Amino acid sequence: MTHQRVLVVDFGGQYTQLIVRRVRELNVYSEMVPWMTAADKIREMKPDAVILSGGPRSVLEEGAPDLDFSVIEGLPVLGICYGMQLMAYRLGGKVENANDREYGFRQLSNVKPGSAPSYLDGGQVWMSHGDQVMDTPPGFHVTAQTDTCPIAAFENIGDKRVGVQFHPEVTHTPGGMNILKFFLFDVAGLKGDWTSENFIDEEVAKIREQVGPEGKVLCAVSGGVDSSVMAALLIKAIGERAVCVFVDHGLLRKNEAQQVIDTFGGHFNGNLKAFHEHDRFFGKLSGVTDPETKRKVIGEQFVRVFEDHAGELQGCDWLAQGTLYPDVIESGSPTAAKIKTHHNVGGLPEWMNLKLIEPLRWLFKDEVRAVGRKLGLPEDMVEREPFPGPGLAVRILGEVTPDRVKITQDADAIFRQELRERGLHKGIWQSYAALLDVRSVGVMGDERTYEQPIVLRAVQSEDAMTARAVKIPFEVLEHIATRIVNEVKGVNRVLYDLTSKPPATIEWE
Ligand code: XMP
Repeated sequence: MTHQRVLVVDFGGQYTQLIVRRVRELNVYSEMVPWMTAADKIREMKPDAVILSGGPRSVLEEGAPDLDFSVIEGLPVLGICYGMQLMAYRLGGKVENANDREYGFRQLSNVKPGSAPSYLDGGQVWMSHGDQVMDTPPGFHVTAQTDTCPIAAFENIGDKRVGVQFHPEVTHTPGGMNILKFFLFDVAGLKGDWTSENFIDEEVAKIREQVGPEGKVLCAVSGGVDSSVMAALLIKAIGERAVCVFVDHGLLRKNEAQQVIDTFGGHFNGNLKAFHEHDRFFGKLSGVTDPETKRKVIGEQFVRVFEDHAGELQGCDWLAQGTLYPDVIESGSPTAAKIKTHHNVGGLPEWMNLKLIEPLRWLFKDEVRAVGRKLGLPEDMVEREPFPGPGLAVRILGEVTPDRVKITQDADAIFRQELRERGLHKGIWQSYAALLDVRSVGVMGDERTYEQPIVLRAVQSEDAMTARAVKIPFEVLEHIATRIVNEVKGVNRVLYDLTSKPPATIEWE
């Protein structure tokens, strides 16, 4: 690896991987490391700059996340939120518990010209902190404040150190990217020399080395962007030794299984094996209502399908999965609170004898799309919405049965058709219908009904780490609701989910 590298030290903040992503958007390769192992990683990786993330703890607490600052001596360092407080604390400044917790939008004042905060658009920032810096370390000066935070940013450009109490990495801080640019290019003097071509070349070489000259890789495709890109990458690396398999678990969108088979049969010249396994999945999901159990059941059945068809799979010794960086982090970070288990991460059962290869595990979604385009995948495949591996099972609250899947598919198809016809699907990150496991009373014709409600969810997002509900015109929602209640038997009420992420998640389970 010849390109420059930035290491982001994770102190447990919910936005840490967003920092990594932003840095890569600026064409600087970046990785994240948990604070506990950061010192070793810094010695080994020899990064060109270091960013210290936010985190939920207080530097004043016993046993708080920490870093041996001697390992970053002389390196450019950007401290964000907790990272800034730690920098202050370790370098001789003062940190205190603030009287008021600052959370949400704040306006900066007294911004010093030419400093990091001076590059923001309008000085509006996103804050989320309890503690704050009350005294700068020697050699540092204050570059901005807010009404309640006297040191909202500080810097010591001579030592290449910048600290910001707010979060430049979130879109709620307009111009936040300019702060990262200022740090990476002006303060740290980096070049911005990392691209998706670099990724493809490096990854193809890695796959060839890992798999060897004879190895065959079982490549599980779902029709989604990640697995399609993964398959294309594997085919580029090892040609026909990438054996593509599609497991139809009965939990895809309406007609989507057939679309996947048609598209892949065409695009991959029929090099696709499709296994229709509805009964197996519905059987195992029968009576299961807990979201985590659903994911585990489905993850396990996927693996069993591959095993059961091992004969047909001509001696594959590897299993490729389209696991992305956010999946790796959300499932495995020892510092961030565990939100959900993503079924495609978390290791394989011991009885399974396929070795795992995850060529996309360092990429974010938009990077995967860029790689897909570079590999020549069709645009409609590259642009497809993210769709969870456990499919509609995590959009059907309560038990997953063929009937409830059909209700969800039909409502979902109406919703998305109406959005597409009006061009409203553009700019939407994900849109879907979920089925709730409650019943409510309604009236249809002269009859009393006692049926289930459908929730419509449509969100805008850049990376699924944060999301906002899409403002669909009320008349359109009303029309969709009427159609769903009239056309989908078993539904008598339609709701629209307005919640952003956080505090909600994108999926209902
Ligand atoms: P949440 O619901 O956590 O979702 O806001 C973030 C993104 O991840 C997708 N998602 C999943 N993908 N297996 C997957 O492959 C899963 O179990 C899973 N759960 C959520 C979700 O669709 C969104 O894009």
